[in-house]
Amino acid sequence: MRTAKLGDLEVGRIGLGAMGMSHGFTGAGTDDAESIRTIHRAIDLGVTLIDTAEIYGPYVNEELVGQALKGRRDQVVLATKFGLVSHTGDRPGNLDSRPANIRTAVEGSLRRLGTDHIDLYYQHRVDPETPIEDTMGALAALVAEGKIRYVGLSEAWIDTVRRAHAVHPVTALQSEFSLWTRDQDEMLPVLRELGIGLVAYSPLGKGFLTGALRTPADIEALDDSDFRKSSPRFTGENFARNLRIADEVRAVADEVGATPGQVALAWIVSRGGDIAPIPGTKRVSRVEENIAADGVELTEKQIATLNDLPVAEGGHHTEAQMAMIER
Ligand SMILES: NC(=O)c1ccc[n+]([C@@H]2O[C@H](COP(=O)([O-])OP(=O)(O)OC[C@H]3O[C@@H](n4cnc5c(N)ncnc54)[C@H](OP(=O)(O)O)[C@@H]3O)[C@@H](O)[C@H]2O)c1
Repeated sequence: MRTAKLGDLEVGRIGLGAMGMSHGFTGAGTDDAESIRTIHRAIDLGVTLIDTAEIYGPYVNEELVGQALKGRRDQVVLATKFGLVSHTGDRPGNLDSRPANIRTAVEGSLRRLGTDHIDLYYQHRVDPETPIEDTMGALAALVAEGKIRYVGLSEAWIDTVRRAHAVHPVTALQSEFSLWTRDQDEMLPVLRELGIGLVAYSPLGKGFLTGALRTPADIEALDDSDFRKSSPRFTGENFARNLRIADEVRAVADEVGATPGQVALAWIVSRGGDIAPIPGTKRVSRVEENIAADGVELTEKQIATLNDLPVAEGGHHTEAQMAMIER
């Protein structure tokens, strides 16, 4: 597998998102043995960046990842996130990046992950009640103590990223970026100016870009706890309109001789060696397919066709979730 450079941190350029193994997607938590096999297969195929978060479950996804990494910890760049669980319980909405909360959170994550250090520790969402300088100060102290190696932010926007980076180097911004979610185009020049990498979450459009979801009946069949059931992009007229995006991705995939999901990932990595997508799956067969996207080369013309796709109709999260995303 080729590599990507996130600040000073080198990672296999296709990573693995572990969230859906425990949280947010249909079938989460139903087959931990297959999820663990998926993590092992990914490592065998060259994946290093493994992504989890305290809120996934909460907690059980970190425990699962910790279990899978027994005996393999040194082979991976282990990333997790804090800030969406308030351990003091006095924060409505649970958004909490106060230094004391980070202290509690990091100890829990280290314990569940079965490790003495986290390679990349992200603030999951910006906390408007806590100055980012205070948060970064607490994270810089954890770096000095060796509990974390690198610091990341997630869904932070330009001003916050600049202020944070002035306190301590930000290694990566993890934000949604895919063929149908392109607002990071505006952020990328800032990240490049500062030497910060982009970790692209939901790079498969939560599965939509693979062509796996085609009809309202496909959405109806999802578990009630599945994020997509309430997502504006997957419901009503938006869903019907967005299908043309999946159709065009499939057309390019047929031309390339790859799957639509592989084309979605190949387009992301074509955007630069400082971008690493973290597609999520809990199945061995799909992790193999997704990793093979590293070998898929798109022509200039195919990239231009994909660049010309319309962006999706509908916000990428529900309104409540969008309220926590800085823009
Ligand atoms: N920072 C944040 O706020 C944030 C937000 C969301 C996600 N994330 C991270 O990003 C990771 C990836 O994002 P995501 O899971 O939301 O979305 P994604 O990677 O775009 O899509 C995952 C979905 O696609 C399906 N899938 C995966 N590979 C497939 C394939 N080859 N063919 C057909 N379907 C396939 C998965 O189902 P199966 O599992 O059943 O294969 C799952 O339903 C997460 O795991 C998490 O670590 C971070």
